Amino acid sequence: MKHARKKITVVGAGFVGSTCAHWAAARELGDVVLVDINDGAAKGKALDLFESSPVEHFDARITGTADYKDTAGSDVVIITAGIPRKPGMSRDDLLTTNAKIMKDVCKGLRPHSPNAVVIVVSNPLDAMAYVAMKELDFPRERVIGMAGVLDGARFRSFIAEELKCSVKDVHAFVLGGHGDTMVPMPRHCSVGGIPLLEILPKDRVDALVKRTREGGAEIVGLLKTGSAYYAPSASAVQMAESILRDQGRILPCAAFLQGEYGIKNLFVGVMCKLGGGGLEKVYEIKLNDEERASLANSTKAVQELVDALGKLNL
Ligand code: LAC
Repeated sequence: MKHARKKITVVGAGFVGSTCAHWAAARELGDVVLVDINDGAAKGKALDLFESSPVEHFDARITGTADYKDTAGSDVVIITAGIPRKPGMSRDDLLTTNAKIMKDVCKGLRPHSPNAVVIVVSNPLDAMAYVAMKELDFPRERVIGMAGVLDGARFRSFIAEELKCSVKDVHAFVLGGHGDTMVPMPRHCSVGGIPLLEILPKDRVDALVKRTREGGAEIVGLLKTGSAYYAPSASAVQMAESILRDQGRILPCAAFLQGEYGIKNLFVGVMCKLGGGGLEKVYEIKLNDEERASLANSTKAVQELVDALGKLNL
């Protein structure tokens, strides 16, 4: 009998990966396979998480492995493998190491889950999604990068904190690459349906935009030994949920653009619809001059990383 539950593979049993497994299992999105080159870490965290299920009341098989055979037939794969940055490092400093890891991971996954939708989380995000796309050779509908949901969540948190209002009423998104050049979109933010710019002075909005851009570094600076994981993993799992439950959520994601915004063959953060087929639509929204210039600047930064990848000869 075919397994009736969905299957989610999470590659990397570090903080981001194990927390992805946690959110996914707790929401009963399906059975979870946690993969890591460190077999014991994957097995130990999987078992520990499974043992929390009678207390937390969720039904999910959670297993750990170092063998990609165990990932066979995954519906969604979340790739978190790679090294995180340390204080003073940019996401781009991780390029060479993580590109090699990403290639190996995709080689391991591909033969066993040829129909999976893959969500890339490893940094530098837009370049790692590109590596995954090339290595997997999947259609663009099935390779998607997680960045905008996280950056948008940071922006939304800061707006709610500033206005002392519920995070639930704050809508905001961020476009562009997941780096220092990301493009928060204050003109499209609303709070309970009210445009943000009508209720918050421009200088305060600018300060929140700046904090959003530096949101990842703020956490790295505090933790000192690694980067953020609660919000990144929650964001990846929200994308996975929209796909697994065919919700059609409209979320900012890194998509392999094919001419949208004049960008071709690069992963850049844009508004997307995620459903059962993975990336079901890319929305090309009207930008003003300033937004267009910021997006072009961010795209240039992604292009430079991809060019650097080409020179690595992996
Ligand atoms: C961050 C890292 C994970 O933004 O990119 O926190």
